[in-house]
Amino acid sequence: MLKLKNKLAEAILARLDAKNDAHGLDSDSIAQMFEYPPDRTMGDVAFPCFKLSKALRAAPPQIAAMLADCVEIPEIAKTDIAGGYLNMFISDSYLSERLSEINMLGDNYGRFDFGAGKTIVLDYSSPNVAKPFHIGHLGTTVIGHSLKMLHEFAGYDCIGINHLGDWGTQFGKLIVAYRLWGDHETIERGGIDELVSLYVKFHEEAEKDASLNDRAREEFTKLEHFDDENIKLWKWFIEISLAEYSKTYKQLGIEFDSYNGESFYSDKMPAIVEELREKKLMTLDDGASIVNLEEFNMPPCLILKRDGSTLYPTRDISAAKYRKDNYNFDKCIYVTSAGQSLHFAQWFKVVELMCYEWAKDLVHVPYGTVSINGEKLATRTGNVILLKDLFAMSIDKVRGIIKEKNPDLENSDEVAEAVGVGAIVFHYLSNSRIKDINFVLEDALSFEGNTGPYSQYTYARTCSILNKAASTGGAGEFTDDTERELVKVLAKYPEKILSALSDYEPMVITRYILDVCNAFNRFYHSCQILNADDESVKNTRIYLTNAVNHVLKTAFTLICIKPTEKI
Ligand code: ARG
Repeated sequence: MLKLKNKLAEAILARLDAKNDAHGLDSDSIAQMFEYPPDRTMGDVAFPCFKLSKALRAAPPQIAAMLADCVEIPEIAKTDIAGGYLNMFISDSYLSERLSEINMLGDNYGRFDFGAGKTIVLDYSSPNVAKPFHIGHLGTTVIGHSLKMLHEFAGYDCIGINHLGDWGTQFGKLIVAYRLWGDHETIERGGIDELVSLYVKFHEEAEKDASLNDRAREEFTKLEHFDDENIKLWKWFIEISLAEYSKTYKQLGIEFDSYNGESFYSDKMPAIVEELREKKLMTLDDGASIVNLEEFNMPPCLILKRDGSTLYPTRDISAAKYRKDNYNFDKCIYVTSAGQSLHFAQWFKVVELMCYEWAKDLVHVPYGTVSINGEKLATRTGNVILLKDLFAMSIDKVRGIIKEKNPDLENSDEVAEAVGVGAIVFHYLSNSRIKDINFVLEDALSFEGNTGPYSQYTYARTCSILNKAASTGGAGEFTDDTERELVKVLAKYPEKILSALSDYEPMVITRYILDVCNAFNRFYHSCQILNADDESVKNTRIYLTNAVNHVLKTAFTLICIKPTEKI
């Protein structure tokens, strides 16, 4: 309804100007003011007049009355003044036009092109190699990928980067552990789980024998100096880990454009350190090199440890510079848990102090913490659920349901995977990203009510109707209120895309999918579609079903869910 809001805003602006042009509003700010009334009987769009009261020196209901006749356009069937609101009821002709537009645009409905020619870099997922990939990583992975899809939908060129945590002392620890207790065969067979056990064992043993930590540091230093044997092991650890991550990414339908992780910047950091020195931003603090950020109410940003080794911020600053030079991004977006907010604020500030104007284009998108059954995630106590195990449980459950309800389904494995994985993603993305979430397995695996499986089932229902229909329908008169309500929901898709983009919030799309499904199911239960008596009524309903099909299909893809045509 974006266009309608703009048109109404123009009309209202003209009327306001004629009355008293000291109101200080333009058509954009007026367009922002429209609201959707909570109850259908109050109209479809409302214009609140309270804010205008001061400038126009009139009571809100009076202003509403003064504006009423200027919105008498073909799109509006009726107006009503209630309190300080001008309530508007949308006409059938407007809805009918929208329905035709959606059908005409098909999968392009909701797309924008304002991103054309601009590049967005997205840094997401980015797990630490050889550590477990658990539900704490679900957030960065699916929020990051949704933001990528949303930006692509708006026309941007997007580069997805998996900034692997593939450098640091943990590799020294792994190398030591592997040489002491590891075995090639076992790791090849057991994959990342074996690496994780070695890592855990290292920590247990180091509690008893602290010299192990010194040995680990030595091995990492050797790695930093390209010791052949250590490089070989390190590469192998990464390969083993990536093989495992790839399975999860494949289930989610995610591909990255680059896997340049922290190690990639090893040879690029000295130049950055030198630049910080030249720009006189670095000071020594107890032997370590830092950028003091007291003035900005932040603790110092650490650049070099006492022994001269680099740190997490050093790598991030180098990576940002590299990305600007190579991709010339309009925005570089980082999706991590809110626990890292200070880290990003600090090094973004350092980039600004280095006088790079693109510091303003660095965006941190944080998300809340995840706990399991009320307890914090903790690798050490074993309170983690691996993402692959969670997906497997969900897929199994779907497989069971399919076996019982639709045993002859073709590609049942594929469907079980899409619906099972989709259930978890949908559950997670139903919450605002910044909210801390308590992951209760039972809830995530409950498919009742407003869930992923319910939405995917609704989508499959539209596919089945369309498969049976002889045509893709056509625009005719509306004969049932559920039809009108459905088009009104569908008409909101473009503005939902804008709001998800401006808030970096996939939840907007998840919730919208439910609105579409609920409106469609109300229509489905209230109307005969393929069996409608009247040919024109039937065509309109098929047309509606087709529109829902397109919107759901693209919306699912925007939140990392694979649409399934049959369940
Ligand atoms: N590897 C880090 C972690 O697991 C996340 C990296 C995020 N990206 C970045 N450029 N710092 O916590």
